[in-house]
Amino acid sequence: MSNEKILVTQPLLPPLEEFIPYLEKIWESKWLTNNGQFHQQLEQALCTYLGVKHICLFSNGTLALITALQALRITGEVITTPFSFVATTHALWWNNIKPVFADIEPHTYNLDPEKVEAAITPNTTAIMPVHVYGNPCKLEAFQQIADTYNLKLIYDAAHAFGVEVNGQSVLNFGDLSVLSFHATKVFNTFEGGAIVCHDEKMKRHIDDLKNFGFRGETTVIAPGINAKMNELQAAFGLLQLKYIDEAREKRKQIAETYREELAGIKGIHCLNDLPNTKHAYSYFPILVEEHEFGMSRDELYAKLKENNIFSRRYFYPLISNFPTYRGLTSANRDNLPVANNIAEKVLCLPIYSSLSHKHVSEVINILKASTK
Ligand SMILES: Cc1ncc(COP(=O)(O)O)c(C=O)c1O
Repeated sequence: MSNEKILVTQPLLPPLEEFIPYLEKIWESKWLTNNGQFHQQLEQALCTYLGVKHICLFSNGTLALITALQALRITGEVITTPFSFVATTHALWWNNIKPVFADIEPHTYNLDPEKVEAAITPNTTAIMPVHVYGNPCKLEAFQQIADTYNLKLIYDAAHAFGVEVNGQSVLNFGDLSVLSFHATKVFNTFEGGAIVCHDEKMKRHIDDLKNFGFRGETTVIAPGINAKMNELQAAFGLLQLKYIDEAREKRKQIAETYREELAGIKGIHCLNDLPNTKHAYSYFPILVEEHEFGMSRDELYAKLKENNIFSRRYFYPLISNFPTYRGLTSANRDNLPVANNIAEKVLCLPIYSSLSHKHVSEVINILKASTK
């Protein structure tokens, strides 16, 4: 048993002394929020790092999602996935939009474009897929559906920091993409988030919306909200960017070790890397097939916990099974067989850049010792 608690993730924290000069600058400027120097610098730095044209920083990813829907004036019904963090659907609810759940693909756990097409009604206005665990959705298929039916396409890209397909950021697809920089994410600003958009006009609109709708000192163009990222968050983001490549490489190595070592265990299935894709390695999900493995997912979860290893059952329960949403017709289990099946079997193992080899081995050894 591990003497230390091994959590599913730990935040990337650069050396504290390197943060002090940023704090000194904030104190000197006396400018704490509202598009300050670090906010501006982080926007530029992220555009370059991520390979995107425009980015609007937010105080968190949920407010960015809510604002993205406002920016595109989405109403009516939006087709989305039940296999995500609950904020994806909550953002629709907060906009008075009816979520319509469609099932996911068995091999990527992402929203299935065919199921989306079948769920379109005259009230559908948009599709909101999630790049779950950072695995890119079927980008072209979704764009084709959006074009054919004249729908908006908003990606919840909370897990997809730095993810590329054929050398192109996934954030450049769809009308808008939303990132989360929450402490648990690959790149974090304690709390934080962003919307990626493709033109200057939309950037300005979103920037207005996240600042109460103000354009200039005395004009309010829309009922905006307060969702601005502050200078402490932005400064921390700038410092963190210096360490991000190293951190991503470490995550990749851990994922490779898990894959190699778990390959021989009957009843444990890992998600494969997708072709021509630069992954984020945000999470390391496995599927536990009880009959082959000899233990259910929940039994394995409990056994890891007894050994001080805190894996997480992301994303269980499915969003469609929470009381707020389970009354919707589309939330019926018969409509979502794949998502319900995956949610019963999935377990996310610890992965973060400072996770030691010793701890990775401890996790692997418990899995090996648990098989029948
Ligand atoms: C898929 C997904 N969407 C949205 C969010 C919400 O982001 P935040 O926590 O930054 O509000 C998260 C995670 O936290 C998430 O995992």
